[in-house]
Amino acid sequence: MKEIFESLQNICIEISKYLSKSHSNTYSNNTNTSGDIVHNLDIITNDIFSDHLSNCPSIFGFASEENDNINYLNTKNGKYFVVFDPLDGSQNIDVNLSIGSIFGIFKVDNSLPKSGRYLVASGYALYGPSTVFVWSTIGQTNLYKLVGNKFILDKENIRIPDVGKYYSVNESNRYRWRNDNIRKFFNDQISLGKSNRWDGCMVADVHRLLLKGGSFSYPKDEKSKDGKLRLVYECYPMSFIIENSYGFAITEDNFQILDIEFPQNIHQKSSILLLGTQELNNYQNYFSFYP
Ligand code: F6P
Ligand code: MN
Repeated sequence: MKEIFESLQNICIEISKYLSKSHSNTYSNNTNTSGDIVHNLDIITNDIFSDHLSNCPSIFGFASEENDNINYLNTKNGKYFVVFDPLDGSQNIDVNLSIGSIFGIFKVDNSLPKSGRYLVASGYALYGPSTVFVWSTIGQTNLYKLVGNKFILDKENIRIPDVGKYYSVNESNRYRWRNDNIRKFFNDQISLGKSNRWDGCMVADVHRLLLKGGSFSYPKDEKSKDGKLRLVYECYPMSFIIENSYGFAITEDNFQILDIEFPQNIHQKSSILLLGTQELNNYQNYFSFYP
């Protein structure tokens, strides 16, 4: 595990340095399996992840947002299955706003994990005004800051505040939402005096939630019928981080994300709500009316 932790830190340092010196954020001619336009930086960062991880003998295999299928590595002795979104929020590239990388590490025994409960660590890097690296294991989330060429521990044992001032959701989908509890929840957020914050980069919006409390959601809607975010390398790792920071991670139907069965299709989507304690109570209240 130490090998993978160090490798992920090196990957994120390399990406951070690359981003600060690169000046061609052009598009490639491709879309990925999920239908997103692929930037050249998506490909470059995916290669950085793949190259480093392929040198870790403890890895059974990995799945990336940018690869159609799973890459199998050491299937004989590898103990960990790694998932990643190498460049999250890539629509922010052209406008020089926050982007990130998301990753999760599952403990496996000669086969793929069975659910998100097989995660033993996950984290993300946020390439913002400074680069931070968040690493979460069972019961503990720590934050490192990039200083020179090294990540230095900056905050230990992060605990999400029970209540926050902000809710993060793409409000422009409001008229396409399909779930009455979702509509009520967000109407009530406004009546409670909370403000909307939406960076359009999951890492940046979840980072705000982690430090300041509140909620992050991407419900299903008429356009994204299964939700927009991908279960394996976006929803599972972020849910693991939030749960280990004393928050909660559920689907809009109030099912725990980490309990969802590992899908056949590694690009499967899910609805998601990440919440502090009081925000969870607010949301779950609606279910007592509609059991
Ligand atoms: O990876 C998908 C993603 O870019 C997330 O980082 C972000 O939360 C979301 O999509 C943004 O969605 P929208 O385009 O609806 O703002
Ligand atoms: Mn993403």
